[in-house]
Amino acid sequence: MEELAINGGPRTRDAAKPWPSVGDSSGRMFGAEEIALLEQVIHSGCLFRYGGTMVDTFEAEMAAKYGVPHALAVTSGSAAVHVAVAALDLDVGDEVITTTVTDAGTVIGILQCNCVPVFADVDRRTMNLRPDGIEAAVSDRSRAIVAVHLFGQPAPMDEILAIAAHYNLYVIEDCAQAHGATLDGKLVGTIGDLGAFSMQQSKQMATGDGGMVIAEDDRLAARARMFHDKFFDRRGEYRGYERLGINYRMNELTGAVALAQLRKMDEILARRRASAGHLLDRLRTIEGIVPPWMHPRAEHAWWIFSFQIDEEILGCTVDEFTAAIQAEGLPFGTGYAGGIPICMYPFLAERRAYGTGHFPWEPPFGRDVHYLAEDYPDTYWAQANTLITNWNEGFTIDDAEDIARGLEKVAGYFRARK
Ligand SMILES: Cc1ncc(COP(=O)(O)O)c(C=O)c1O
Repeated sequence: MEELAINGGPRTRDAAKPWPSVGDSSGRMFGAEEIALLEQVIHSGCLFRYGGTMVDTFEAEMAAKYGVPHALAVTSGSAAVHVAVAALDLDVGDEVITTTVTDAGTVIGILQCNCVPVFADVDRRTMNLRPDGIEAAVSDRSRAIVAVHLFGQPAPMDEILAIAAHYNLYVIEDCAQAHGATLDGKLVGTIGDLGAFSMQQSKQMATGDGGMVIAEDDRLAARARMFHDKFFDRRGEYRGYERLGINYRMNELTGAVALAQLRKMDEILARRRASAGHLLDRLRTIEGIVPPWMHPRAEHAWWIFSFQIDEEILGCTVDEFTAAIQAEGLPFGTGYAGGIPICMYPFLAERRAYGTGHFPWEPPFGRDVHYLAEDYPDTYWAQANTLITNWNEGFTIDDAEDIARGLEKVAGYFRARK
């Protein structure tokens, strides 16, 4: 058997051969199409979306691709969630249930609406929301659920919609990591009341920063559009400045890149699915590796590739295994978003949104909600036991094969050492 790199043997992946990265052109598809549209914007002399054509065209093509009547471009994924929550027009102290495993951008918009996030523990296999975790988080102040499709894998939307219907809750889908993922053939973002997307640098579609909200319902969509534009009325549907709004308007330069990226989405997804699919097939053949659990009726959009190990079969700990594969040059580690429930970060754990008080967590505005680590055991377990790496369209079948060979080598070593 070949000696492990961690014990002085040869590395599986040559250090001179870096993995494709979403941080540069090795893992991104920016090119002539983006440049051509950017040139058009510059020559037009109008960089503002109202008066320009790029953001309008992007919204129209996004709506058509998703088969919804309404798409709204915004400045980030955090802005998209904020706009989606604001569109619900909730009261101060109303509660919005969401997941412990996500980016802060899922939570910020809830608090910006002066609503209280309540966190549900997750499925150990996927770190997506779990129906019984959501049920346990429901109170008489619950008004909405923000379901995150973590790593590009759809959350269990059938169960989430059933719970929402039972308790009369809105459902926002946070699709920041899951552009193009489907459940029963339906694109995520079109299943709940509103879908929120991010186009930050690392996402399937990227504009550096950017976001998008989609909706079926005319009233929710109109409120989202007004809110993102200072609640200024450009269409004569409302009294102007009827409510508190904000400026999250996308500009034409970003719109140009977004439009070019949207037109490449099918190819971007096909590439991700080909390489990740190859790795998935290979992992299924390696004893002691637990491939990512796949929802049987879903299509993954592969923002992150994850897997777990069977410590009994391998006779080693996750930490030993991780150190060994990292020495082989494989790009995996544990601990998404810092490896702790998002609600254990100070602004949530200490309940500090503004100044020195605890608004909106305390009476008379909200219930006295606190976040305690012991309420999220499955989050801690899954964070400690799930190995992850960013995935992107630059990964080839050869790259996937290198990863599989490295895992085969390390898993084989530990099995034999047992
Ligand atoms: C699930 C989720 N929601 C929201 C966001 C926030 O997006 P942005 O960074 O574009 O504000 C992210 C960003 O990674 C995310 O992963």
